[in-house]
Amino acid sequence: MLLLDREALNFIFSRGFWRMSLLWTFSLLGSYLKLVIDGVSGKTITFPRLHPDASTRPVCIITGATSGLGEAAVKCLLDEGFYVILAGRSSGLLSKTVEELGQKGNVLLKEFVVDLASLDSMLKFKESVQQWLIDSGLHPSIQLLINNAGILATSQSYTIDGYDRMIGTNYFGAFSLTNLLLPLLRNSYQPSRIVNVTSFTHRSISEIIISEKTLTVGDMRTFTCSNGYPFARIYEYSKLCLLMFSYELHRQLCLSDPLHHVSVTAADPGVVKTGIMREVPFSISRMAYKVLDLAGLLQSPEMGVSSIIDAALAPPDASGRYFFGGGGRTTKSSALSYNKEFSEQLWTCSNKLLHQKLSGPDHHFTAQ
Ligand SMILES: NC(=O)c1ccc[n+]([C@@H]2O[C@H](COP(=O)([O-])OP(=O)(O)OC[C@H]3O[C@@H](n4cnc5c(N)ncnc54)[C@H](OP(=O)(O)O)[C@@H]3O)[C@@H](O)[C@H]2O)c1
Repeated sequence: MLLLDREALNFIFSRGFWRMSLLWTFSLLGSYLKLVIDGVSGKTITFPRLHPDASTRPVCIITGATSGLGEAAVKCLLDEGFYVILAGRSSGLLSKTVEELGQKGNVLLKEFVVDLASLDSMLKFKESVQQWLIDSGLHPSIQLLINNAGILATSQSYTIDGYDRMIGTNYFGAFSLTNLLLPLLRNSYQPSRIVNVTSFTHRSISEIIISEKTLTVGDMRTFTCSNGYPFARIYEYSKLCLLMFSYELHRQLCLSDPLHHVSVTAADPGVVKTGIMREVPFSISRMAYKVLDLAGLLQSPEMGVSSIIDAALAPPDASGRYFFGGGGRTTKSSALSYNKEFSEQLWTCSNKLLHQKLSGPDHHFTAQ
């Protein structure tokens, strides 16, 4: 018998629960349907995996590397011969992950603490990585950045920099880290890549407001919700922003570098059983996973990571694509995600916010 505690009952009566249950399911089914239709009509665009020359010791950074999809990606990229930098916010979890992987004979591993909810922490991370590359005698560059870290926060709180925690982590953290690390990616001795881990849930958003306010605390007009924090919608918004940023960065980089020395792709893993639902009442997440499993839609991290690895190893001309479904397949994301006007607004607002913070009294950083 299903026993629901008070917390679970409150959750069921929230608008976010119904958005997750209905809109996210339709978005996911829509994504798979599109994949099938493209496949049947021969329209699927696939990219091969280019296996790196391990003797060159390519370096990759994976955020959120201590659990779920991040940890699965670490294992795959170690197998591909990458020197993997694990970026996580808990030094205990990082040490544990490195120790476990090290016991299996992996030596090309390095861990660094970084909190994507704090610009200070990201600046320190960048300096530590640069110093470590020098101390290790490695080329002063990185070949791959996977912006994987993300949260599904069910209650509202703010980051140290004053952002809504979910937008701050899922979007602004990835945006800021990418900007800080761009010089290292540009300096690569071979084509380098950025992979942003987004989600099919972005399809649930049909209209969007982009302003400094929506990017920091969330726009109360769009996010109006009689029943508390509109967590499902803000999660979708953060993932849509990350996707639009991927496309806009691709366009911006193309202007100066049509051969894609630095390429940018988005990867959508589908539904994967990880720690992402940790803030959702346990009885609800267990029930959701059971239903998804019965419907054949639930994947293990080892399966779900395939779209991320497809994107990470794709050739440079895959830049600007959306990987979904594994097997090197790409598909179209929502029509809204390709809206150039909104993407440019997002780009301008995000840059303004980042540079305001960086030129503030505590920082002396010049973005390149
Ligand atoms: N699972 C799915 O069904 C699914 C579907 C679509 C997209 N995604 C996306 O896939 C990505 C990976 O999620 P997952 O499913 O593997 O969930 P997960 O197991 O919860 O992993 C998320 C990782 O992000 C890290 N993280 C969270 N906040 C951070 C911060 N402020 N600074 C640095 N690291 C932070 C977490 O670190 P701690 O362990 O320290 O908290 C954790 O390692 C996320 O972006 C998620 O949105 C997941």
